[in-house]
Amino acid sequence: MATTITILSQKGGTGKTTTTRTLCDVLRRSGISVLAVDLDAQGNLSDYFDVPADADPTVADVLAGRAKAMDAIHSDVLPANLGLAEAELVLGGKMGREMTLRRALREPGKHYDAILVDCPPSLGLLTVNALVAADYALISSEAEYFSLQGVEQALEVVELAKESLHPDLEWLGAVLNIADMRTVHAREAHKQLSERFGDKVFDTVIRRSVAYAESAERGVSILDHRPDLGADYLALAAEVLERLGWRAEGAQLAALRQELIPA
Ligand SMILES: Nc1ncnc2c1ncn2[C@@H]1O[C@H](COP(=O)(O)OP(=O)(O)OP(=O)(O)O)[C@@H](O)[C@H]1O
Ligand SMILES: [Mg+2]
Repeated sequence: MATTITILSQKGGTGKTTTTRTLCDVLRRSGISVLAVDLDAQGNLSDYFDVPADADPTVADVLAGRAKAMDAIHSDVLPANLGLAEAELVLGGKMGREMTLRRALREPGKHYDAILVDCPPSLGLLTVNALVAADYALISSEAEYFSLQGVEQALEVVELAKESLHPDLEWLGAVLNIADMRTVHAREAHKQLSERFGDKVFDTVIRRSVAYAESAERGVSILDHRPDLGADYLALAAEVLERLGWRAEGAQLAALRQELIPA
């Protein structure tokens, strides 16, 4: 069965989608088969992966019970579009509403090594579905004065999902994202998070760069567009594989790092 990781944050624009997309890239290049699940009506992840806007069915149809997840996978992406907003409303009135994605992903789980789920910028029903469907939660944090609060709030929802719905859910960690470590507040944010959460904070910080906007615009992975910056995601993926205990895959990733960023 696939290992499922849900990427969430309390706020918008913390780099969730970029993290989901780039981790997908790194893991795939390390020989891991990955299904990417877009759980945001903005459909950014689907766009990143060039899923046609009229792809049908989508994750909204799956959550509404109109389609099977296997039929809604387009090139290893379970895409979303604005229809997801309506599906979320409908879902809210149903029995077992928090379990819907978990049930839907059971079948795809047999066909992939890993599933990465990108959440919307809120801690509502869709994010709860993503947590209940997951083995691990990965919190993305902005590098700002309020990052500690943001991670604490996201963590509260993770704990709530764990206590009341899904006891096996584990917190994989928190990553400081889009960080300009030359600024005092970014360094302060990392320090505060590390003091509060210790080892749970990834050593890797994802640096801020305009190259991410360029790479998104050109539809090129940061790994190819700017391998020197992609190095951050290679390092993050290495930490993730280490935490998962995936040794062989970690070795393949090490080889990929050598190839992309020769010493
Ligand atoms: N390391 C980075 N440096 C600079 N810009 C970045 C970086 N990572 C992502 N971005 C840009 O920041 C914006 C927000 O990133 P992204 O879409 O990944 O965040 P998000 O948390 O998914 O947002 P939302 O909550 O709206 O879904 C995007 O324009 C993206 O290209
Ligand atoms: Mg997003």
